[in-house]
Amino acid sequence: MFSESEKKKFEQIETPFYYYNLEILEKTLKTISQISQKYNFKVHYALKANSNLKILKIIESYGLGADCVSGNEVLRALESGFSSNKIAFAGVGKTDSEIKIGLNANIFSFNCESIPEILIINEIAEKQRKKAPIAVRINPNVDSKTHKHITTGLNENKFGINIEDLPNLVEVIKSLKNIDFVGIHFHIGSQITDLSVFKDLSLKVNEIQSYFAEQNIDIQHVNLGGGLGISYENPDEDSTSRFEEYFKIFSENLKLKSYQTAHFELGRSIVAQSGSLISRVLYNKKSTTKNFLILDAGMNDLIRPALYQAYHKIENLNVRAMTCLYDVVGPVCESSDVFVKDYALGEAQRGDLIAIRSAGAYGEVMASNYNLKALAQAYYSNELK
Ligand code: LLP
Repeated sequence: MFSESEKKKFEQIETPFYYYNLEILEKTLKTISQISQKYNFKVHYALKANSNLKILKIIESYGLGADCVSGNEVLRALESGFSSNKIAFAGVGKTDSEIKIGLNANIFSFNCESIPEILIINEIAEKQRKKAPIAVRINPNVDSKTHKHITTGLNENKFGINIEDLPNLVEVIKSLKNIDFVGIHFHIGSQITDLSVFKDLSLKVNEIQSYFAEQNIDIQHVNLGGGLGISYENPDEDSTSRFEEYFKIFSENLKLKSYQTAHFELGRSIVAQSGSLISRVLYNKKSTTKNFLILDAGMNDLIRPALYQAYHKIENLNVRAMTCLYDVVGPVCESSDVFVKDYALGEAQRGDLIAIRSAGAYGEVMASNYNLKALAQAYYSNELK
């Protein structure tokens, strides 16, 4: 929902652009900080969802750590003020120079995804006469019941080390001198709305913990990843994710020893609802069977609908009485450059402002220059006052 003054400001800005409502972001951060502290859980914000410096600085000010998946994300996290001992560095394909960035920064942990990766980290750390803190990502083979492109915790996915490989892993961990085994890590998928899968994950983690205990391997940190979904249907009514329910499931089902700490890596649920992609209607085109609403924003600005058939609520900010069914599309030369099909909106005219909601996560970060389109700029609520 946008105020009249926000809409007035939007009129003066060249579209398309990303707009971030920082009050929504801070409200979310307050909620997540309160609830996670109650359970004594540590939350690392997943930079991949949105790595804007301004947003990162606000998130850092609430005491969250950072979850990074590239050397540049590690550097961005440091630049935004995250302390290095709160930075986890994940990803299946870390390059040697990225590993060195992590080592030089003395990060909290490398979340390692394969035995070959652990061997290389050990080798690079040895050359630097250091011990690299590593957590091992284990693929728990738990179904997250989300879109197939964002499911990560099944044996068929490329992520993590399979449970069958744990005996090999234990041998490797015991033999290497330049790694410090600090924890285990899991992440089963994103935009998860059936929260019962987190109970499945907790129970699997308990079994895996018992296995490590039998091998006399101490684990200090248990990282459960991210994945908590948001409401794309009702961004205003359900603007804050179900954090209480989410953390409670882990608190009730995860067996932790007194010296162990649980960590989480949430991205989407922290930033998605604070962002919208604001665009204008270019043309209203009737074909034999369709009403196309052609916007100046396209799949180059927000690729989620084209890539995952994702739904984002669309609003015409110029309220108009009559309702039409539109295929809302972008200008890019691809048939998949469609935001939504057969969608009811007030009758739209050229120049109307259109808001594509819940775009604060995996929006701007996934934008491209395709068709040599310029990247959409970002604007923030506190700057438009
Ligand atoms: N930790 C790891 C290891 C991850 O791979 C991810 C997301 C997260 C944490 C954060 O997950 P979140 O809390 O945001 O669900 N581009 C897709 C989502 C890809 C998610 C990739 N990994 C989309 O637009 O839906």
